[in-house]
Amino acid sequence: MNILILGSGGREHSLAWAIQQNPKCDRLIVAPGNAGIAQMCETADINILDGDAVASFAAENTIDFVIIGPEAPLAAGVADRLRDAGLLVFGPSKAAATLESSKSFTKAICDASGAPTSAYGHFNDADAARAYIRQQGAPIVVKADGLAAGKGVIVAMTEAEALAAIDDMFDGSFGDAGSEVVIEEFLTGEEASFFVLCDGKSVLPIGTAQDHKRVGNGDTGPNTGGMGAYSPAPVMTDAVTQKALTEIVQPCMDEMAKRGTPFEGVLFVGLMIKDGQPKLIEYNVRFGDPECQTLMMRLGGQVLDLLKACAEHRLEDMQVNWAHDHAITIVMAANGYPGSYEKGTVISGLDALPEDSKNMTFHAGTAAKDGKILATGGRVLAVTARGETLSEARDRAYAMTKTIDWPDGFYRTDIGWRAL
Ligand code: AMP
Ligand code: GLY
Repeated sequence: MNILILGSGGREHSLAWAIQQNPKCDRLIVAPGNAGIAQMCETADINILDGDAVASFAAENTIDFVIIGPEAPLAAGVADRLRDAGLLVFGPSKAAATLESSKSFTKAICDASGAPTSAYGHFNDADAARAYIRQQGAPIVVKADGLAAGKGVIVAMTEAEALAAIDDMFDGSFGDAGSEVVIEEFLTGEEASFFVLCDGKSVLPIGTAQDHKRVGNGDTGPNTGGMGAYSPAPVMTDAVTQKALTEIVQPCMDEMAKRGTPFEGVLFVGLMIKDGQPKLIEYNVRFGDPECQTLMMRLGGQVLDLLKACAEHRLEDMQVNWAHDHAITIVMAANGYPGSYEKGTVISGLDALPEDSKNMTFHAGTAAKDGKILATGGRVLAVTARGETLSEARDRAYAMTKTIDWPDGFYRTDIGWRAL
């Protein structure tokens, strides 16, 4: 099988790494990829937001299966364009991707299907939004309705903060994403990420994880795309997992199908769990980054069979072969991230790192130049390890970070603390 993966992050490196282990993978191309991906398979410089360009590239390269990593091409309708061209695709249609690209849409799906989530109001008028905040009081959560690269959520501990967020959003700081807002009840409890394959009808859970969104140790400082993650998430007990599936995921998927926009792909279910009861915080329509790196480390080559069965609407017949293991990933980021940071700094020591079924350093923002690996993004490497226990996995991953010589980068030293 000839496979094309779209994306360039640590998520896509880990997908490529797992898929290449499956003997059914003949040829693997990642577009556009990064320096780490280029060391293991072909890469191609195409504009992945341009459905026509991706479709012609797939035809020229006799691609059998396209896997779409990030949300942007999904929201741009690239999966639809490729399906129209007769390709087998893993990733939801533009209509189904609205579960990530509009928070109010997701709330409406929850309302229609009875899925537990926080109480909310939906506004496109600043005065009405302010009145709702004054009436509800703080703490309260203000969210830009559209895609805002992870920056559109303000968890306001005071009414003043919430009102300021409304000013920012309606002043255009969030672009089109902010012209509509969802204001939510503040939930307390423990957060977890739950990953479920959905083929429009059947659902198949493929793992749980917890990530660390704050930049600093002890979960302090500004929010980031994720500074590390581990899998499984201890809070996702069998009972909580079952509740999340039967009360949240399946009813929402049934509602999507009923509306004529079935969801096909991986649903990233962001949950808040309190006293054994999960509530939906948000859906994403793709794997999490860096959560994906921990899932791929644990699933290995079988992931190709699972993603293909999902794209072919055969999930009902599939099962996941679980190992009772743990995985962890430590993100190395450029000094200054998530603020401004220098690009083009040199990373050494990567050649000396182990690369096997227990240890893998996935690249995110890297490029190769003159035989050197340069950091080109904010989040640059995802140092990932597996073990019989979480502490074994953690010790392995942190041992690898010591081998990496990158004075211009940093990482958190407490990934996994909650579970350990
Ligand atoms: P989101 O972009 O929806 O994932 O929100 C980012 C983060 O904000 C989540 O991971 C939570 O930590 C927090 N958050 C979002 N919604 C709520 C809520 N209703 N109550 C408490 N925290 C929330
Ligand atoms: N790590 C969170 C995300 O991928 O959205």
